[in-house]
Formats: sequence, structure tokens, C-alpha cells
Amino acid sequence: MSKGNNAFDLLAKVLIIGDSGVGKTCLLLRFCENSFTTSHLATIGIDFKMKTIEVEGKRVKVQIWDTAGQDRFKTITQTYYRGAMGIILAYAVNDRESFQNIENWMKQIKEHASEDVCKILVGNKSDMPDRCIEYEEGKRLADSYGIQFFETSAKDCRNVNDAFYEVAREIKGKAALKNGPTPQTNGGSSGGAQLKKDDKPSGKDSKCC
Ligand code: GTP
Repeated sequence: MSKGNNAFDLLAKVLIIGDSGVGKTCLLLRFCENSFTTSHLATIGIDFKMKTIEVEGKRVKVQIWDTAGQDRFKTITQTYYRGAMGIILAYAVNDRESFQNIENWMKQIKEHASEDVCKILVGNKSDMPDRCIEYEEGKRLADSYGIQFFETSAKDCRNVNDAFYEVAREIKGKAALKNGPTPQTNGGSSGGAQLKKDDKPSGKDSKCC
């Protein structure tokens, strides 16, 4: 495969879910565009951005779907679970309700996502002085689900890249298991992990960053 700017070895479809206001859009913007905004413009339905990163010597194009946390969009966002290879469950460390709701988001995943989807737990807004969820509490919850845990701050960048890299790394690991030790660029995979070039979500304009 030619290694032009758009070339990649693996397309990783990642969904970010969690309560409204925990910072899902800000995490996406920090990762893809290295930007941050203090305003909360609630996501309407779903939006996405892409970024290609290198993971263990392979170029992984991460397509990140930012879902609306508001309840009224649940039906729309649920339809995106099935195609996800990775899911980032986010809460805010200064919002206990968002932390308690992780259990409900997990139920949504069980109901709507594929069984082998990679998951990580993210406690965002770790820069906030009024936190009510300590690191240990978040870690314990992640451990109970057997998933990785990161405390992030979209505001000051803390751990944002690490969280996205981890989910990309886990997806790559699963793809390698499905496709053999070296991901191929000419397809041959089945199920969620696909090795494609230039895959675009249907019916949407790509907002590649
Ligand atoms: P919905 O689209 O409604 O689901 O919300 P969301 O989860 O996408 O939240 P969004 O990214 O819009 O952020 C909500 C508010 O939290 C905004 O005012 C952000 O500036 C703020 N925010 C997001 N991340 C951080 C962070 O890491 N630290 C701080 N201090 N504020 C943050």
C-alpha cells in the first residue's frame, strides 16, 4: 500500500458516550484539533471527526463519533453502537450523577453494541477543584468492568491523547487477532474490525481534522 498522507492500515470506529455536559465534545476537539472551548453547545444527535495516529508501527485512522448525552437523543445515538469497535464511557469527576450513570451507559452498550467492543472509562474535568469522585473510585469502577481507566482534562490536555491511544491500541489488538498477526490492507476481516482505505460514514460529510 502506498504511504501517502491519507494511507492507513486500520480504521477504528470509536464512540464517546456519557451524560450531557461531561465534556465529550471537548475531549474530541482536544484530541483532533488541540482546541478547547468553555461554552457548552449541546451536541444534537451525533457528530464525528477523524484523526490518523501511529500505534505500534501501524497507521490507525480513528473515526470518533461524539454522541449527544441528552436523553431525547438516545434513540438516534443507539443506532451507532452496533458499528463501534471502541467505546469511551465518560463522566465528569465533579458530577456524581454522571458517574452513577455509567452503569446505565454500560447497560446500553450491552444491549446495543457488539459483544467484543473495546471499552475504556474516562473521568473528565480532572482540572476542576470541586471534584467529588476520587481517582480510586473511578479506578475501582473500571476494574469491576475489567476495562482501562483514565482521568482526563480536555481543558489542560491531561491524558486525553493517552485515552484515545489506548482505545485505538485495543482495537488494533483485536483486529490483529481476527486478521492474523499483521493487519492487511486488502480487507478479509469480518465483524466490527475492518481494514479499509478511505472509509466514510454514509450520508454524512466527513469533518476530517
Ligand atoms: P452534550 O453534547 O450535551 O452531551 O455535552 P458534552 O458531554 O459534549 O459536553 P461539552 O464537551 O460540550 O462540555 C460541557 C462543558 O464542560 C463546557 O462548558 C466545557 O467547556 C466544559 N468542559 C469540558 N471538558 C472540560 C474539562 O476537562 N475541564 C473543564 N474545567 N471544563 C470542561
